[in-house]
Amino acid sequence: MTILGIETSCDETGVGLIEQRKDGILQMLGSNLASSLEMHAKTGGIIPEIAAREQVKYIIPLIKKVLAETDWKNINAIAVTVGPGLIGSLLVGVETAKTLAYLYNKPLIPINHMHGHIYANFISKTQNLKLKTQNERDTKGYELNLKIIFPAIALVVSGGHTDLLLMKDERNIEVLGGTRDDAAGEAFDKIGRLLGLPYPAGAAIALLAEKGDPKAFRLPRPMIGSGDFDFSFSGLKTAVLREVTAMKQLNNETINNLCASVQEAIVSVLVRKTLKAAIQYNAQSILLGGGVTANQKLRDSLALEMRDSKLEIKLHVPPTELCTDNGAMIAAAGFFQYHPQPWQNITAKPEMYYEAPLASIC
Ligand code: KG4
Ligand code: ZN
Repeated sequence: MTILGIETSCDETGVGLIEQRKDGILQMLGSNLASSLEMHAKTGGIIPEIAAREQVKYIIPLIKKVLAETDWKNINAIAVTVGPGLIGSLLVGVETAKTLAYLYNKPLIPINHMHGHIYANFISKTQNLKLKTQNERDTKGYELNLKIIFPAIALVVSGGHTDLLLMKDERNIEVLGGTRDDAAGEAFDKIGRLLGLPYPAGAAIALLAEKGDPKAFRLPRPMIGSGDFDFSFSGLKTAVLREVTAMKQLNNETINNLCASVQEAIVSVLVRKTLKAAIQYNAQSILLGGGVTANQKLRDSLALEMRDSKLEIKLHVPPTELCTDNGAMIAAAGFFQYHPQPWQNITAKPEMYYEAPLASIC
């Protein structure tokens, strides 16, 4: 079975093609991405109208590119992100997918963007990866695309979400907690703007943090000890604003130190709560997903804490390019959340969250 995935929930236009082989492995046949991020970097944030206009330009050429070496008769279904996201952007992907489903008479699967981030862990990206055995590890010590054992805890951290989820099996996803205000990625981006860094600032902060001292500033770790699995990062942003306002000028050393301290604070909270959830629910695996999980410090700290706590849990991390938004993860989600709907019933759902079953809201 082969599924074409279409992702346009934010500024990116992603198209991916995934084939499920006879042994169940999800093989990525193609993935292509276009972004209007450079335009938004100038304005310090995404301008939804510009993002959607660019996506209208990108979407058809990208689909043609990904399908260049195949034929529509080899595509069994189309999976498309219906939410959450920006309404104009979502509409570009959803209406394109509906048209293609009608034209080529293919089942159309509405996908929750956040599910896509989780299922990025289920993709075997290259021929080589499928040859890895249970004991093999990639060079950084993470297990890559190995069989996922359940129950699993998924930490999905993106620009708009910070969620901890319990997966009892491949299809069953339960929300344990989420952010009460700013998401972790949003905190990185807003703090980056305070420090004069270009948007989106997560990767830039991570880079500068390498040269800084994470103990230089005593920043809060919001809700780190709360008894639940919720997050809150707006207080951290305010604390950095206070530090920045108190200083006459920001030199490079101070910026590096602030970046390191901010990263340390965010990572500490994410690691502590993820491990707490993993222990409480007797998780056999931890899955990471979303743009912020491209953060090396987060990956390393989690792996280190797991080793130090002697937790026999497998850590799954998608390759960096599958952590951020892409079409392949939406195609992968299509295999596990296979609820095709008549194209007439599918609409963009910008406010969508996890609980609402896709089949009944569409
Ligand atoms: O999942 P994603 O690509 O888009 C959304 O669905 O929001 O996540 C984007 C977020 C941005 O906030 C960006 O600053 C953050 O991911 N990000 C990072 C890193 N790379 C991207 N945050 C921290 N460290 C990184 N290396
Ligand atoms: Zn995302």
